[in-house]
Amino acid sequence: MSAHGTPIPMTARRSGPLTGEAHVPGDKSISHRSIILGAMTVGETTVTGLLEGEDVLDTVKAMQAFGAQIDKRGDTWHVHGVGVGGFAEPDQVIDCGNSGTGVRLIMGAMATSPIAATFTGDASLNKRPMARITDPLALFGARAYGRSGGRLPLTILGAQDPVPVNYTTPMASAQVKSAVLLAGLNAPGETVVIQKEMTRDHTERMLAGFGATLRSEMSNEGHVVTLQGQPEFKPQHIRVPRDPSSAAFPVCAALITEGSDVLVPNIGLNPTRAGLFFTLRDMGANLAFENEREEGGEPVADLRARFSPDMRGIEVPAERAASMIDEYPVLSVVAAFATGKTHMPGVHELRVKESDRIDAMARGLRACGVTVEEGEDWWSVEGRGPGGVAGGATVETFLDHRIAMSFLVLGLATNAAVTVADGGPIATSFPVFEGLMAGLGADITRVSG
Ligand code: S3P
Repeated sequence: MSAHGTPIPMTARRSGPLTGEAHVPGDKSISHRSIILGAMTVGETTVTGLLEGEDVLDTVKAMQAFGAQIDKRGDTWHVHGVGVGGFAEPDQVIDCGNSGTGVRLIMGAMATSPIAATFTGDASLNKRPMARITDPLALFGARAYGRSGGRLPLTILGAQDPVPVNYTTPMASAQVKSAVLLAGLNAPGETVVIQKEMTRDHTERMLAGFGATLRSEMSNEGHVVTLQGQPEFKPQHIRVPRDPSSAAFPVCAALITEGSDVLVPNIGLNPTRAGLFFTLRDMGANLAFENEREEGGEPVADLRARFSPDMRGIEVPAERAASMIDEYPVLSVVAAFATGKTHMPGVHELRVKESDRIDAMARGLRACGVTVEEGEDWWSVEGRGPGGVAGGATVETFLDHRIAMSFLVLGLATNAAVTVADGGPIATSFPVFEGLMAGLGADITRVSG
């Protein structure tokens, strides 16, 4: 669905070789955090390379409603923040659209200020669990009033006198970890978050960049982050790196489309994000990391993906799940063109993303002639080999950008075309997807009339 509610059906057809360079947009996780942390900093933070997708633009609007001044001049976003603890009370409901990251991080950031805010989202976001955020925020002294199951719309009354918190997250979620850390900013003393599994660490890296004092260490209990509250933030100049989760689509499209050779330059290989690329290599993908280097403290490379007719199904290590959690839909597409079964355990979090991603992919893949098995926290795809996937179906996308893009990638190599009932959500994270894929030679079109 477009932001205005009309579904946008799109069709992908078997394509000739994909070639050229794919310049994917800025990282979604880092873009949200740039705006939120800039809004919590007195002075001017500048951001280039910001992902201008609907999700991040909703976070921009939200931070403006909390009192930050944000505008774009030329290619640069300028954020004049209000300081830690300086948020104003918004005078309207905060609509975070489709974005779980946006709403969860913002709820954390405001929960230790003595203000009230009401949050809502689209039909997908309003189904997603929020108790995982409001439970730890209650420990700081914030109160939440929402719908059953802790769902949106919900109102948070920020703590008058916040206390620091020591919290062990029940699930592997960077959003939960980040919400607790952002809340801890305006609490006195040390806030501690413990996670059994390591999740993306952009919040920790960026908090340190803005001048917070924090430690990340391994203990018997897991990964422990200790944050000293009430820091004096200093404005930053942020260059947002390109998004590995968006890079996944042209990379996987090249691997399955005969004759392809695609370069995706400047992709961060932060180990908490790059699990897909190592998994593809384990499957026998012809995927090279060229020009490996460090940028802004992060490992970066140019990814070169070539058609890979000899990929095999594998057991994806469960401990890798957090580092590739958003990439399982498109991995399942590649798995359909491999030989043998790909088994993906330890992925119950996929059931509570923008859609139930195991269910959404299983339905669509089955409709395209692929055998999929599933349990609550695992699934497997029976590979049909290159040229072996029938296609020929119209699939539902459940307001989920990654489901839409995954099936459009699938259709580039199926025997019959694949249509997604609604490609509108792609604009939440990858607004230039259609043009970028067309530039490589992909046959993806909107269905007219
Ligand atoms: C994100 C964390 C992940 C991921 C999402 C972005 C983040 O969600 O799926 O797309 O920026 O912190 P969870 O925290 O629910 O795993």
